[in-house]
Amino acid sequence: MSIQTIMVIGAGQMGSGIAQVAASAGRRVLWHDLSMPLIDKGMLVISNQLDRNVAKGRLTEEAKVSILSRIQLTGAIEEAAQVDLVIEAISENMAWKTALFQKLDGICPSHVILATNTSSLPITEIAAATTRPSQVIGMHFMNPVPVMPLIEIIRGLETSQHVFDAIFQLSKELGKTPVEVQDFPGFVSNRILMPMINEAIFTVYEGVATVEAVDTVMKLGMNHPMGPLELADFIGLDTCLSIMEILHEGFKDSKYRPCPLLRKYVKSGRLGRKSGQGFYTYSS
Ligand code: CAA
Repeated sequence: MSIQTIMVIGAGQMGSGIAQVAASAGRRVLWHDLSMPLIDKGMLVISNQLDRNVAKGRLTEEAKVSILSRIQLTGAIEEAAQVDLVIEAISENMAWKTALFQKLDGICPSHVILATNTSSLPITEIAAATTRPSQVIGMHFMNPVPVMPLIEIIRGLETSQHVFDAIFQLSKELGKTPVEVQDFPGFVSNRILMPMINEAIFTVYEGVATVEAVDTVMKLGMNHPMGPLELADFIGLDTCLSIMEILHEGFKDSKYRPCPLLRKYVKSGRLGRKSGQGFYTYSS
């Protein structure tokens, strides 16, 4: 199956990165969000990103214009009826996602594949909200999407081989490296990454070292591009907490208990970069 037209739902950081990558790979993108101002802002982010690539000589002005022309903004979800694939990238809220997938199931012809960019919610449960669980799959992109080469491709319990193959192939055509993963809490990426971040927070909480010291150890000692606390701020502390809760709930194992300091920060509104304050302070 050849996937040429994609609807991306969600105008946040992930949706914006996915729309950019898909349009850069020659796909026609319908980009939908309930908030048109948010999606206009997202388009500006993509345009600025492409301008940087033009300035660095990696993209011609014509190529940039052509990429942007392939992205069409829409407030009408009904337009999902004309695409081959929908990639959902809305907030990590199961009730919102299942309601959206139910709606898409009613709009899209039966051959349309419905993918979710969830970072940790069960694909099988999202698929069960539709009448086409074999056509539902996880496509977990990493942030920042244009830079990070990985996509975790998560099979729900009922995902068909045909759908898996089509999404695996598409991911390669988007210039990414797909990795097959089964549907268990946190998949692979967050099952490994989040306990590391949580442990880094415990290290600060217990007074073993300062925030800067923990990050320096992991950057210089392990060659990580960002320290775990800087990365937590980048991902969003609310997202980190929510993923730890999903691991804790899903495995019922105390090793996944979220650090009280993480909870405290989230309760106080310190959410990392997006709120201007997390383990570090951000000026803009
Ligand atoms: N969007 C697009 N491109 C971006 C970007 C963004 N938000 N941020 C940085 N870049 C690009 C820059 O343009 C730059 O490109 P060029 O060198 O080609 O000009 C390149 O990335 C490097 O950027 P910088 O020089 O500004 O900074 P850096 O060298 O520190 O790299 C980084 C930035 C790529 C983000 C790097 O710090 C990094 O890899 N950090 C770790 C990111 C990571 O672990 N992501 C996964 C998070 S977990 C996740 O996403 C899953 C989940 O479910 C929570």
